[in-house]
Amino acid sequence: MVQLNLPENSKVKKGKYFKDRTGSKNLKKVNIYRWDPSSGENPRIDTYEVDMDNCPSKVLDILNKIKNEIDPTLAYRRSCAHGVCGSCAMNMGGKNGLACTTPHAEIEGDIDIYPLPHLKVKKDLIGDLDGLYKQYKSIEPWLKSNSKSETEEIYQSKEDRAKLDGAYECIMCACCSTSCPSYWWNGDKYLGPAVLLQAYRWIIDSRDDERQARLKKVADELKLYRCHTILNCTSACPKGLNPAKAIAEIKKMLATANI
Ligand code: SF4
Ligand code: SF4
Ligand code: FES
Repeated sequence: MVQLNLPENSKVKKGKYFKDRTGSKNLKKVNIYRWDPSSGENPRIDTYEVDMDNCPSKVLDILNKIKNEIDPTLAYRRSCAHGVCGSCAMNMGGKNGLACTTPHAEIEGDIDIYPLPHLKVKKDLIGDLDGLYKQYKSIEPWLKSNSKSETEEIYQSKEDRAKLDGAYECIMCACCSTSCPSYWWNGDKYLGPAVLLQAYRWIIDSRDDERQARLKKVADELKLYRCHTILNCTSACPKGLNPAKAIAEIKKMLATANI
C-alpha cells in the first residue's frame, strides 16, 4: 500500500504561548500561523491572549494590537484598513476574507488566523501572490482602443458603463481564487476566478476594441474550462461580487462567438 506522509519540515508544530499581562477579564485566544523561511524551522501556531476590552472591532485591529503590544515579529500585509486595497486578505475562523472588514465578534470561540490557503507562504500570514499577478498581467488589464486621438473623449453610454458594475469593484484580494478547488490543483494553468473576472471586465467594456482577441486568449481548456461552477469563489468574495457568473458569461460568449 502506498503511504503518503508530509515531509517532516512541513508539519505545523505547537508554537509559543503569550499570556495576557494586562489582567483583563475579557480575553480572547488568538491562534496564528507563523513561519519564517530564514529560520530553517517548521511552521508553528503561536497563541496570544488578547485583551478585548481595549481592542477595536475588526480582526486587523487584533493583529495590530498583537504587533504593537505583544509580539512585534508578527508579519502580515495591510495598507488601507478600509476594504479598498485588498492586501489584508487571509483566512480567519476557516473563511477567507479581509482582516480590516471582518468583525472579530463574528468568530465564535478562539480565533484561528492563517494565510490564504494553497499559496506558497513568504512569511507568517503573507501569501506569495507572484503567480496570480503574472496571470493578471497575461490578460492585459488595460483599455485597448484603436482611437488615435489623445484629446477626444472615448464615449461610453450610461447603459454600457452600468454593465461594468459588479466587475470593476474587484480589488484583486485573491480571496476567491484561493478558495477555488480547481485553482488549488491547477493554479499554474487555470486562471482562476479573480483573473477571469478581470478578463471579463475588459471583454465587456464597450470602449475596448479587442473583444475578440481577448475572448480568444482565454478560450482554453486549462485557462478557463477548469471552472466547474463549484461557486466557492462567489461565497468567498468580501466585496459581494460574483466571479462564477462572470466566468459563466465568458463561456456563454464563447459558445456564440465565431472563434
Ligand atoms: S465556480 Fe469556478 S472559479 Fe468559482 S470556485 Fe468554482 S471552480 Fe472555482
Ligand atoms: S472577485 Fe472578490 S474575492 Fe475575487 S479578487 Fe475580486 S474582490 Fe477579491
Ligand atoms: S487593509 Fe486594505 S483591504 Fe484590508
